[in-house]
Amino acid sequence: MATDRSVSSTSRRSFLSWSAAASAAVAMRIVTEPMLARARVHNPPASAVMIDANENPLGPCTSAREAIAAITPQGGRYSDGLTDELVNTIAHMEGIKPDYVRVYPGSSEPLHHTVCAYTSSSRSYVTADPGYEAGMFAAGAVGARVVKVPLTKSHAHDVKAMLAAGADAGVFYVCTPNNPTGTLTSHSDIEFLVENKPKGSIVLVDEAYIHFSDGTSAVDLVKGDRDVILLRTFSKIYGMAGLRCGFALGRPDLMKRMQEYGGANAMPITAVVAASASLQHAQLVPERKKINAAIRQEVFQWLERNGYSYVPSQSNCFMLDVKRPAKEVIDAMAHQNVFIGRIWPAWPTYARITVGTRPEMEQFQAAVHKVMTGAVTAAATAGLRQRKLRLDGVIVPA
Ligand SMILES: Cc1ncc(COP(=O)(O)O)c(C=O)c1O
Repeated sequence: MATDRSVSSTSRRSFLSWSAAASAAVAMRIVTEPMLARARVHNPPASAVMIDANENPLGPCTSAREAIAAITPQGGRYSDGLTDELVNTIAHMEGIKPDYVRVYPGSSEPLHHTVCAYTSSSRSYVTADPGYEAGMFAAGAVGARVVKVPLTKSHAHDVKAMLAAGADAGVFYVCTPNNPTGTLTSHSDIEFLVENKPKGSIVLVDEAYIHFSDGTSAVDLVKGDRDVILLRTFSKIYGMAGLRCGFALGRPDLMKRMQEYGGANAMPITAVVAASASLQHAQLVPERKKINAAIRQEVFQWLERNGYSYVPSQSNCFMLDVKRPAKEVIDAMAHQNVFIGRIWPAWPTYARITVGTRPEMEQFQAAVHKVMTGAVTAAATAGLRQRKLRLDGVIVPA
């Protein structure tokens, strides 16, 4: 065929590798926090306290809302230039070249694409336990070995144990602050991981929650052209989970490989202008960090006064040790219209709690106290529709 002859062997090869990547992407389901958090509960009542998915009840800031309203009449156009502007703003703020920045509708996509690009049946995925599970599903989809390494006693990633367990690693995933514990892994530990990892592997640093914490970003490692891909999202402190915007930072050659698995589609312009407006609001992050920390501290003090155990966190979530199978407490809380987060198989007596508004956390406290003192049980949760598919101990929607 004429068209066949006109394609060089190099471009045929790159088409074939592209199509292999594309078919992997088609076959793969991107697992996200709401899918994991809401797998158990379908259609909660409107009055429910939803502190199960690490969302931000404050939503987007006022200037982001205004930007969305103002751009809506232009919704008939792709307006790629707006995404370029956002890329330039991020690059400027992070002190990095624009070609090191890729914007996505949330950070779930680049997370999955990175895992698909750098793990395989011969290159494992090394992650913390308990840790954010999404990447494990991508690794599973490409047939990679998933290595779960327990956190240290101080709940940091155990980078030495991760290295020891991952001589064949393709990706070391470090989420700091960690989801679900809200605990930090130090910059020096991440650097140690980067320095000592096997050749050909990358370190994927997920900073979805970094703005809530006093942690040091790993962006300098990206700037230093190390084998690091870094993820951020507007879903957390910026309150834009439903609007969908996030980004990846990395050396262009690393990102190119990851992009073979997707991410070339146009961005929703509402998300792009809201993200740009949020970044231009210089006080937004410090203000919201302060609000979250104050409410979190009040909850911790209440838990301590009442003799409950928890893991101190620097994020908008924390792990509560209910000293019994946590599912019982999760179900009994749901019966009181308070939906708390899920369980990690490694810590079966802990449930993850998202820090909500002050009134929401007061409702949480009242409900948890009733449950823990035996005033309420899970007996009447039968009405909640449950959809379960267990993969590696995690519940996801069928
Ligand atoms: C650790 C972590 N990384 C990434 C994400 C992805 O968030 P999104 O796709 O909303 O940007 C989440 C969501 O909760 C998360 O907890």
